[in-house]
Amino acid sequence: MDLSLRELSPSEYPWNLFLLADPSRDAVEKYIHESVVVALTNDECVAGVVVLTRVGEGAVEIKNIAVDPAFQGQGIGKKLLEEAIRRCRAEGAREVVIGTGNSSVGQLALYQKVGFQIVGIDRDFFTKNYPEPIIENGIVCRDMIRLSYPLSNR
Ligand code: ACO
Repeated sequence: MDLSLRELSPSEYPWNLFLLADPSRDAVEKYIHESVVVALTNDECVAGVVVLTRVGEGAVEIKNIAVDPAFQGQGIGKKLLEEAIRRCRAEGAREVVIGTGNSSVGQLALYQKVGFQIVGIDRDFFTKNYPEPIIENGIVCRDMIRLSYPLSNR
């Protein structure tokens, strides 16, 4: 199936995908309106989406990345991350950062395969900020693992 990369306008935002990556609509609302949303799409659907938000001097955060379950495991997540890195580099950003839960073992594998490196842990981030307990892969999601992809020396 032919998919192409393009920026989405707010009326096209795939909320079902945003909520796959972050179950709190309130949390997504806080960053989505000041972000660039890039998707892999065709005429019929949005297969995957990545959300880029400036978070400080020269840093861009991937706040949200999600692939429709029907398209997962086909390299789309990797393509979206590579496009995010390409765009940030072209804009002269210093680094791309991303955070995920300690229980998201597949996501942690993917981000490190693409070249992100773990740089920090926000202990108890999820237990403090999310009302419902989150359990994935039989692991309680407590901590936010922060990863960085430095651009200045690559
Ligand atoms: N364990 C080990 N490796 C994995 C796993 C896993 N569970 N999942 C993916 N990978 C690896 C693949 O093996 C592949 O590596 P390879 O190229 O060496 O074979 C690589 O990651 C790329 O996988 P893709 O097929 O590109 O990943 P996919 O298109 O399925 O997208 C994603 C991954 C975005 C995490 C998808 O599964 C998804 O949407 N999940 C639900 C939403 C989510 O959790 N989003 C991230 C939340 S954190 C945030 O948004 C900042």
